Amino acid sequence: MIVTLDGPAGSGKSTTAWQLASRLGVEMLDTGAMYRGITAKALDRGIDIATEPHAVIELARSSEVRFDWTQQPPRLWVGRRDMTDRLRDHDVTNWVSDVSSMPAIRHVMVKAQRRIASEHPRLVTEGRDQGSVVFPDADAKFYLDASPQVRAKRRADQLRAAGKPVDLDQIREAIILRDRKDAARKDGPLICPEDAQRIDTSDMTSEQVVDFLAQRVRALV
Ligand code: C5P
Repeated sequence: MIVTLDGPAGSGKSTTAWQLASRLGVEMLDTGAMYRGITAKALDRGIDIATEPHAVIELARSSEVRFDWTQQPPRLWVGRRDMTDRLRDHDVTNWVSDVSSMPAIRHVMVKAQRRIASEHPRLVTEGRDQGSVVFPDADAKFYLDASPQVRAKRRADQLRAAGKPVDLDQIREAIILRDRKDAARKDGPLICPEDAQRIDTSDMTSEQVVDFLAQRVRALV
């Protein structure tokens, strides 16, 4: 059973996917974390992502990206390093769309995601291309959306809760820019698959979203 959740930055996919997977008693795959992991490793190696795309691609090809499923939520390892705590840092967020727009990187990640699904066949997976490219035959597909203002506010609340500095306008601008880059790329763009159910979560609590999705999945699968 594969359930895909796609949608723009800050639409609540990760939290929703995590809660939905727990509710259904299945695993959850955060594909954004995989692109973030490679981006973080490239930055930590001092690779200039803008001018050295080949070095990033080489890194992705030579590094194993894997989740430690024994931890809840699962932790992300790139090679021998647990990168989990680095994934949401500003520099990683700012560069990740440039890394994910490289077709060779997507090729490596899509292959890894399909391998993970073959090892964990009961999966809620979230990202930008899960229903459109990676798992076109998924049992249930959803596209979560919310207005940029609402998404920025949710991100700001998360950062505040983590004790990090917050500038709401800056967060909203960064979200809009990232969506634009993610939607514009040729390979695996951010898109609502034709056969996905689109849900505007602007006026919903996360609990309401999870309740709704769990009900839909149970009716479909
Ligand atoms: O979902 P999250 O914000 O963690 O994703 C980070 C970035 O990873 C996205 O902005 C996008 O560039 C990339 N991504 C992608 N395809 C996916 C998941 C994420 O290109 N399936």
